[in-house]
Amino acid sequence: MSKKPHNLVHKKIKELRESIREHNYNYYVLDSPVISDSGYDSLFRELQDLEKKHPHLITKDSPTQRVGSSPSDTFKKITHSIPMLSLESIFEKSEIDDFFRKVEIGLKDKSNELPKYVAELKFDGLAVELIYKKGKLISASTRGDGMIGEDVTHNLRTIKTVPLILRDSFQKIPDLLEVRGEVIMTKVELERLNKERESRGEPLFANPRNAAAGSLRQLDPKITAQRKLDIFFYGIGKIEGVDIKNHYETLDLIRKFGLRVNGHTNLFKKKEDIYKYYESVEAKRNDLPYEIDGIVIKVNDYSHQKILGSRARTPRYAAAYKFKPRQAITMLENITDQVGRTGIITPVAELKPVRLGGVIIKRATLHNINEIEKKDLYIGDTVIIERAGDVIPAVIAPIKEKRPKNAQKYKIPAKCPVCSGSVEIIEGESLPRCINANCSAQLKERIKHFASKEAMNIEGLGDRVSDYIVENKLIKRLSDIYKLDMRTLMSLPGFKEKSSYNLFTAIESSKEASLDSFIMALGIRFVGRKSAKILTESFRSIKKIIKCSYEELECMEGIGPVTAKSVKDFFNDSDNLKMIDEFESFGIEMTADKKKEITDNFFNEKRIVLTGELKTFSRNYLRDVLENLGAVVSDSVSSKTDLLIIGDKAGSKLEKAEKIGTRIMKEKELLKHINPIESIEKKKGEKEKQQELF
Ligand code: IVH
Repeated sequence: MSKKPHNLVHKKIKELRESIREHNYNYYVLDSPVISDSGYDSLFRELQDLEKKHPHLITKDSPTQRVGSSPSDTFKKITHSIPMLSLESIFEKSEIDDFFRKVEIGLKDKSNELPKYVAELKFDGLAVELIYKKGKLISASTRGDGMIGEDVTHNLRTIKTVPLILRDSFQKIPDLLEVRGEVIMTKVELERLNKERESRGEPLFANPRNAAAGSLRQLDPKITAQRKLDIFFYGIGKIEGVDIKNHYETLDLIRKFGLRVNGHTNLFKKKEDIYKYYESVEAKRNDLPYEIDGIVIKVNDYSHQKILGSRARTPRYAAAYKFKPRQAITMLENITDQVGRTGIITPVAELKPVRLGGVIIKRATLHNINEIEKKDLYIGDTVIIERAGDVIPAVIAPIKEKRPKNAQKYKIPAKCPVCSGSVEIIEGESLPRCINANCSAQLKERIKHFASKEAMNIEGLGDRVSDYIVENKLIKRLSDIYKLDMRTLMSLPGFKEKSSYNLFTAIESSKEASLDSFIMALGIRFVGRKSAKILTESFRSIKKIIKCSYEELECMEGIGPVTAKSVKDFFNDSDNLKMIDEFESFGIEMTADKKKEITDNFFNEKRIVLTGELKTFSRNYLRDVLENLGAVVSDSVSSKTDLLIIGDKAGSKLEKAEKIGTRIMKEKELLKHINPIESIEKKKGEKEKQQELF
């Protein structure tokens, strides 16, 4: 092969990997995919095909070589004693024939018996593993990357159908049972939740999987409990103390233990019957209360499964036979331009609302002009749209015979649709970009990204507030977030004292965010959570990242030339540097060195003195709050004092504390760590309860 085409293939493979990683991140970490499942599948297949043809270009870190996506950092990790594999997806009947053929060939000469199969529903949810020891639920984790998942025990315990203790129905309870299943959300619950999110201006969950994942990966189990999740169990990992021979028996057994197994599960001796099962399930699909996206076929006998074994990510003894994506026909009424946080302008299809698989579809991203031209779409066209289980749809193709005479071609905008600023075309990407750094649309998106859970985690600074503060010019640049005071927050529509206070403290608390969260929050193009972590681990301070060269960045494992250039461009911009200085002046963490941690019970048994003019609450009120938290509040500073809390115009007590080296905390900082309103309300509640008892 000549050098040039080889380089081109290499480049394409790299691009596909970067794009798949970005989509993985959006899907698994943010729970907010930007392409449809089938769009993702086709990227993945394209990469798999190229790697098959050019095996020497396969690298260990290619998305095709992994079982899933990395777990996020907010939960403890649990290592699965047996990896949780994924399933090969099959879309055509001929591929299923292939699957059966390979199974039979694999078993030939190694088994006297013909294989039997179990067919089940393929739920669109989140895979989990629960561990029961001597019948007691010990832990629960997500699948994560297949090897290591996240500890979601507390959240899983809130699901009513999860038994905390296995039922003893004259069966021997195994000493150890690792049982696997799918956490799902019903269609009704997903619709309810999305309506609620829409009314709060929050992004919608694209599909039940993301909704289940988002609900399970909550740090507060109370929130999980409010989302009515459910579970179906479909297999086991390790089992000790009980001997089972096949999958069907296993399902029967775990059902007896009280673990919910789906009723549409059948054992088949004849593989021909499985096609009928597939068709009958597809016909029932819309009537089921939960989403499914296909069926799963598993070889029943464990001895057969063992002979067949597994590939890197998927077993040879099972496969997912997916349904064709659901399609509908509607009108492409317009193509609008959406400005993102980095100024990139994406064309969006504005569709005549149409119902598809239980959801009303109004819009769909068209990605870029190449995509529009490749699909030959015109404004005014009648189009076929598709949903492969997700709420985010894709425009597949126009029905050309129905094209009206006045149908219009889409043109890349000459000006930014929001600020009318100049637009440049990003080389090689056919994407226009608004180059006005002060564009309000960009600022809105940057604020939303900055405040998002994965970045600075400022609860309450969602779509609606971001839009309002930009439209009303309360913020001109990102760092102005930290200039928002109580009075400004109280002026936001619908904001009262408590909500303003909550947002104020959320903004203040975000100053403690880790360096990688801050880097990610800056919204540098191509810098997601993973790259932000790599940068943090290597440089450990923003200043060092600013100073490092393009070459240094490019040769870092996991960074690559595109991201390196983007990072360099960002920190070469003087406005961005000014903004970083401002962030620093507001007290944002600029290094990876841990500050002294203040935990929930930090105040317990601490000797505290209050001094100076306190602004937010009276001294008596704060004294009460601190005492509720177990602190001893006294009037004078001595060597025994652990903490001096100061308001304005603090005098002699502050001087003394400085002399003896007592820890000093400003009133504002104190409020980051405590919630006075909640604390007093809790205390009141306790008192009332006590009175009821007597
Ligand atoms: S069995 C080795 N059974 O599909 C077998 N998985 O792509 C591994 N899923 O991660 C899984 N319904 O989240 C199995 N009846 C079912 C399933 C099912 C949905 C999901 C599961 C898994 C993914 C594999």
